[in-house]
Amino acid sequence: MEFFHTHISEKSIALANKVLKSGWLSEGQMVKAFEESLASTLGLTNPVAVNSGTSALHLALVLADVQPGDEVILPAQTFVATGLAILMQFAKPVFADIQYKTGNIDPNSIREKITEKTKAIMAVHWGGYPCDMDEINNIAKEYNLAVIEDAAHALGATYKGQPIGSISRFTAFSFQAIKHLTTGDGGALCCSDEFNYHKAKTRRWFGIDRASSKPSLLGEREYDIAEVGYKYHLNDLAAAVGLGNLEDFLSRVNRRREIGNIYRTELKDIQGVELLDYGDDQESAYWLFTILVENREGFIKNFQEKGIPLSVVHLRIDNNSVFGGITPNLLNQEKFNKHQVSIPIHENLSDEEINSVVKSIKSGF
Ligand SMILES: Cc1ncc(COP(=O)(O)O)c(C=O)c1O
Repeated sequence: MEFFHTHISEKSIALANKVLKSGWLSEGQMVKAFEESLASTLGLTNPVAVNSGTSALHLALVLADVQPGDEVILPAQTFVATGLAILMQFAKPVFADIQYKTGNIDPNSIREKITEKTKAIMAVHWGGYPCDMDEINNIAKEYNLAVIEDAAHALGATYKGQPIGSISRFTAFSFQAIKHLTTGDGGALCCSDEFNYHKAKTRRWFGIDRASSKPSLLGEREYDIAEVGYKYHLNDLAAAVGLGNLEDFLSRVNRRREIGNIYRTELKDIQGVELLDYGDDQESAYWLFTILVENREGFIKNFQEKGIPLSVVHLRIDNNSVFGGITPNLLNQEKFNKHQVSIPIHENLSDEEINSVVKSIKSGF
């Protein structure tokens, strides 16, 4: 049984072949088609394809004008990429507490962490379940802060009927190898306004406007770079893989939801196991199915004996020296870190495999 499943469709292989045979591997028509399809299939606003989720997060911080010494509020329950992107801007990551029953940043804790130096809030949708975006965007409005959603886990998720990627000023996605939509490595940044959308398009490629800079007689494009740009663009080969994988993406996410519902029904009354609290207004993309287990070691050993994979996926990140060590008094974070573990959820699981996960939990640990 796999814990993560890397889905590559026949269409991805055919499109990748087409790109390989075309002789054009750089950013071109395939990237454009992939971006258009992200918008039309999933309702993302102005998706700009880049080479990783980390690049998307960093680009968002650059566009939000996060400067050295500024503070950015984030949860510690994430992957290190979220915090490292802040350090890349020489800004200061400030860790807020999470909600124990979702793993997502707690808007009340965000309020407590705001200072005069706060510039932005990064909200991570843990496992694909959307954060309380209305509350977070209201706080941001009140204090004039940028909101950057780290939606690395949340492609296909919805919040009050709206797709993640269409709500805040910035949303960053990851299409890294084990994500539910992969391009090998890749990502996308969605910007709610046209100004940042165009900035994202130029600054992902050295600061050059690829679409409208014309080659001169000498053969090089004519441009004047006015601000620092990056080599963050996606290439056509990766975009071909992503475009092919988008074809059945929604049905694959639906299958994840079906499995999520089976787990929710089957595991709701198990002693020592708590399910996360998912509201009716937020639909998870179910990149992960995280549960809270009293005796986590026993639980893990039970799975290991039966050959069933499981993982905590990510532990809190603030303990890393680069972030300055554990932030005190993040009480829910402490508890979550001790009890969380994720069980397999993906479209390639057979009914038998799902059953064996459930049975092994019911058998006790
Ligand atoms: C929450 C979160 N943010 C950001 C990233 C970074 O994405 P990438 O690996 O595409 O750079 C990841 C990657 O796993 C992640 O889990």
